[in-house]
Amino acid sequence: MQDLPSDRDALQALLDFHVEAGVDLALDETPHNRFAEPKAEPAQAKAPAPKAGPAAPPPRALPKAAAAAPEEVAGMAREQARHAQSLEELEAILAGFDGCALKFSAKNLAFADGNPEGRVMLVGEAPGADEDRIGKPFMGRSGQLLDRMLATIGLDRSQVYVANIVPWRPPGNRTPTPQEIAICKPFIARQIELASPEFLLCLGGPAAQNLLGIKDGILRTRGRWFTYKAEDGREIKALPTLHPAYLLRQPLQKRLGWRDFQALRRALDGRE
Ligand code: URA
Repeated sequence: MQDLPSDRDALQALLDFHVEAGVDLALDETPHNRFAEPKAEPAQAKAPAPKAGPAAPPPRALPKAAAAAPEEVAGMAREQARHAQSLEELEAILAGFDGCALKFSAKNLAFADGNPEGRVMLVGEAPGADEDRIGKPFMGRSGQLLDRMLATIGLDRSQVYVANIVPWRPPGNRTPTPQEIAICKPFIARQIELASPEFLLCLGGPAAQNLLGIKDGILRTRGRWFTYKAEDGREIKALPTLHPAYLLRQPLQKRLGWRDFQALRRALDGRE
């Protein structure tokens, strides 16, 4: 393994560098230098006698459910989510659900924030580091921008309900895979059904595409009203908009986000 600096400041700088780069999660007890691992012996060569030394820690085994085929796990998720008769029950079921491997690298389940009685529900993609630490959606910089945008239309978190399509943080903030989304989808669908908002704001492409079944990218669909069809047959007016994390990276696009929030305000006032 690469030599580590010995003084404290240099070690801290190295750690900071990794965190900045999104490497802020240890998936194993000890680091492995994959580049240094010996090449496989040719087939006919005899396997070398095992060397004495400290045994490598066993790989962290995922529970059986997380290792099953995604369609099978998605079926289990649908079955379990259907049983929840309240948001509290749904959160408890989700906390005990072992079918999504993200649960085992995340620190916390970030189920929801805000007021489930609110007229508006906002759904993002997946928790980041701050949300994972605190256990609630939209707690970091994106959440702060979201709060400022809500304030422009006279709303705050006591009036809206906030969740994500995937409630566990993907390691290093990577995008959740289609399988992870498919496994978590029955839970967010039930969460929407139980919260039963009047309006659904889909924050970013993945939320819009996965909840509304649309293929187009967010720049084409934002600002247009769609219908979200809940499994119980209820129809909810849904508006895709740009994700606050995108707006932090592309501040000039904030005007589009602002327009979408104005459209939501008009709809809340019965003017749309
Ligand atoms: N981005 C999301 O999509 N959700 C969060 O909770 C935080 C950042």
